[in-house]
Amino acid sequence: MELQQYLQDNQQRFLDELLDLLRIPSVSADPAYKDDVFKTATFIKDKLVAAGAENVEVCPTDGYPIVYADKIINPELPTVLVYGHYDVQPPDPLDLWESGPFDPIIKKTDAHPQGAIYARGACDDKGQAYMHIKAFEGMLATDNLPCNIKFMIEGEEEVGSNNLGPYCRANKERLACDMVLVSDTSIIANDVPSITVGLRGMSYIEVEVTGANRDLHSGVYGGAVANPINVLSKMIASMHDENNHITIPGFYDDVEIVSTEERAEMNKAPFSLDAYKNDLDIDDVHGEKGYTTLERTSIRPTLDCNGIWGGYIGEGAKTVLPSKAFAKISMRLVPNQSSEKITELFQKHFESIAPDSVKVKVHPHHGGEAAVTPTNTPEYQAAYNAMKETFGKAPLPMRSGGSIPIVALFEEVLGVKTVLMGFGLDSDAIHSPNEHYGLFNYYKGIETIPAFFRHYAALKQ
Ligand code: BES
Ligand code: MN
Ligand code: MN
Repeated sequence: MELQQYLQDNQQRFLDELLDLLRIPSVSADPAYKDDVFKTATFIKDKLVAAGAENVEVCPTDGYPIVYADKIINPELPTVLVYGHYDVQPPDPLDLWESGPFDPIIKKTDAHPQGAIYARGACDDKGQAYMHIKAFEGMLATDNLPCNIKFMIEGEEEVGSNNLGPYCRANKERLACDMVLVSDTSIIANDVPSITVGLRGMSYIEVEVTGANRDLHSGVYGGAVANPINVLSKMIASMHDENNHITIPGFYDDVEIVSTEERAEMNKAPFSLDAYKNDLDIDDVHGEKGYTTLERTSIRPTLDCNGIWGGYIGEGAKTVLPSKAFAKISMRLVPNQSSEKITELFQKHFESIAPDSVKVKVHPHHGGEAAVTPTNTPEYQAAYNAMKETFGKAPLPMRSGGSIPIVALFEEVLGVKTVLMGFGLDSDAIHSPNEHYGLFNYYKGIETIPAFFRHYAALKQ
């Protein structure tokens, strides 16, 4: 049967299977979901087996397992390694979800007039990873797989992929390939396809500020003893100056200088500041002086507090000078910055600005390097050709602000480039309540992936 026909005939089943996958709450950050994360790995394994993959294995790690599978049709042909992740972000805050995060439903929206699947992980990354399994199934069933394929679907991406590096180093041979293909990013709009050519790196840190050795009555001691929440807030605020530059000494030393020409090119991408503000319900944007919104979210590094806590947050009022305050701080990094070096600079700076009235502890969580992918390669060209064919419009290269630290790792350990051919929209609310993924995007992905394989095989001949 023809591939298009096969994909068409099986649309409903492809959707039903994804909905089943979305019902398993594979939250890697929270140990309460441990059994479900393991269950999800098995689900992925079973679907790879059913699709016709070989050597399918749930590979244990020190954390959550990595699902491996392959189909080698001819060792002479090129090999594509498909990477994705089956773990998801925690669903909280739960009360802001309009439907259960693990009870997928389909709703129409302005951005998705054909309907979108609402569930945690719908877009990031279960929906996008599953497109590859279904595209593979279709290619194999209709005798349209033009090169070798390997799958590596992991369960710890959202918590920093700490066990993936060791796995890749230990399984270099098994993972040997000509390129890596990832769908875990976005396109500009459903009628403006794009290919991600840059990702930011990351340094993630938790800080603890301690004042007195115990909580104190805020009247008896207030005014005479440091309040760690006040101190921490001031320390965090001091890490940006009046131009929203980051004040950590040396922070910008290695930042790649992007040429005026490249910046001008970047700013030609379709983008409406008004639509952006409207979508987020904000009267103004905020960021580093001298850079546009597109630049601030791609070629410039950031420092953000992701969470802050301490003291009394229960019902009513309690008068207390807390003993401790905490914050989780992330820095998005750009090419040439080293996450290890930035983590050290942060630590040194944070300790140096702490007043003598408190003690501070800095706990690094995880880090990862930025990545830029070249556009003058057969793999990029294949993605370009495939999207042009299925969207009917040439895709634009675009740098993204998000991070997928394993992209730099694939280059280092496997010596191969990655193509970031994602299909989400920035408005799909990933990591946020009411995450969703368009049915148009799901099916467009399943259609575009086989086109990618066809073009890639042809270009590599
Ligand atoms: N899929 C995202 C990354 C992403 C999203 C890239 C949108 C480009 C566009 C990925 O799952 C993710 O969330 N990564 C984390 C990094 C990680 C170290 C926790 C991130 O960017 O916060
Ligand atoms: Mn992801
Ligand atoms: Mn994510």
